[in-house]
Amino acid sequence: MTAATPESIAQAAAIIRAGGLVGFPTETVYGLGANALNAEAVRTIFAAKGRPGDNPLIVHVSRVEEILPLIRGDIPAAARRLMDAYWPGPMTLIFPKSDLIPDAVSAGLDTVGIRLPSHETARALIAESHCPIAAPSANRSGRPSPTTAQHVLDDMDGRIPMILDGGPCSVGVESTVIDVTGDVPRVLRPGGVTPQMIADVMGAVEVDGAVMRPLKEGEKPRSPGMKYRHYAPEGDLVIFTGDAQTVADVICDHYDHAGGSAAILALPGHEALYGDRHVIELGRTDSPESVAAGLFAALRRLDDENVKYIFSEAIDAEGVGLAVMNRLGRAAAFHIVPV
Ligand code: TXA
Ligand code: MG
Repeated sequence: MTAATPESIAQAAAIIRAGGLVGFPTETVYGLGANALNAEAVRTIFAAKGRPGDNPLIVHVSRVEEILPLIRGDIPAAARRLMDAYWPGPMTLIFPKSDLIPDAVSAGLDTVGIRLPSHETARALIAESHCPIAAPSANRSGRPSPTTAQHVLDDMDGRIPMILDGGPCSVGVESTVIDVTGDVPRVLRPGGVTPQMIADVMGAVEVDGAVMRPLKEGEKPRSPGMKYRHYAPEGDLVIFTGDAQTVADVICDHYDHAGGSAAILALPGHEALYGDRHVIELGRTDSPESVAAGLFAALRRLDDENVKYIFSEAIDAEGVGLAVMNRLGRAAAFHIVPV
């Protein structure tokens, strides 16, 4: 790990230009970057992560103008309004792709997801590399996304030449992925830009049904990422919804009968409801933003501690809470129990 400084960013940019991989911070999660226009370099991302080849990568730019050569046709009016409102920031828009985008990036689709991140280090790295950077989250496939440079090192040590350390990510869940090719913008993956924020600018928004449930048999996902279980803890994770005291009573009962190592994922301020049982806090304050920022670190702890049974509180799927419940729900294979 190398602290992000002008010198280390220049060094990282040289690696990208030479076709290598760099772990770097963004405001959402850490990315594993390569020159998006170099198919050979992009293929090494899939190898380092162990990622299925049919899951496309997001392309990151440092300025809005840089997207023009990457997309086919003009920027749709709807996309322009969202870009004006929420770029730079945690939002990825799907565009028809130009021939400059290698198939390795788009995984054979005729579209490409593009994002202009707000993190200064990410933007400086892209600008100095003089190319767009394709970057998935810098975890090994099947692990929670990394929100610190240490998480990247834990997953990628020995697999990549450099990790830029820019401190913990402020948003903590991956960007909102929005399909803007239809009449109404459609959220394919919830994130820091919430449905309400999209509706504020566009007047309407749709959230894809597969955001809060598993895909149905034979259902074709609108985003390939929906097909994959993503992170699932080694232990058995169940989420309980309802009023705090009832949820706590039910969780305590399950915990006491678990007969193996168990942990409780609980909101800050709720520890007292669980006595001396093993509680991992979801965030530092009882706000959806704080829960989002701490979520993946909490999930990584479960595996570090070899927990067998995990009982989790839920948060309201409102605002960035929708992104939290999407990630937590998927980690639990949507095993969500109302009490
Ligand atoms: O916040 C983020 O978006 C982070 C940071 C590094 O920028 N990146 C990230 O990338 O989360 P990744 O590869 O872990 O997730 C990309 C998601 C996948 O679910 C993928 O299926 C979807 O975006 N995606 C990418 N291109 C797409 C496209 N053309 N159409 C539909 N979905 C797409
Ligand atoms: Mg990912």
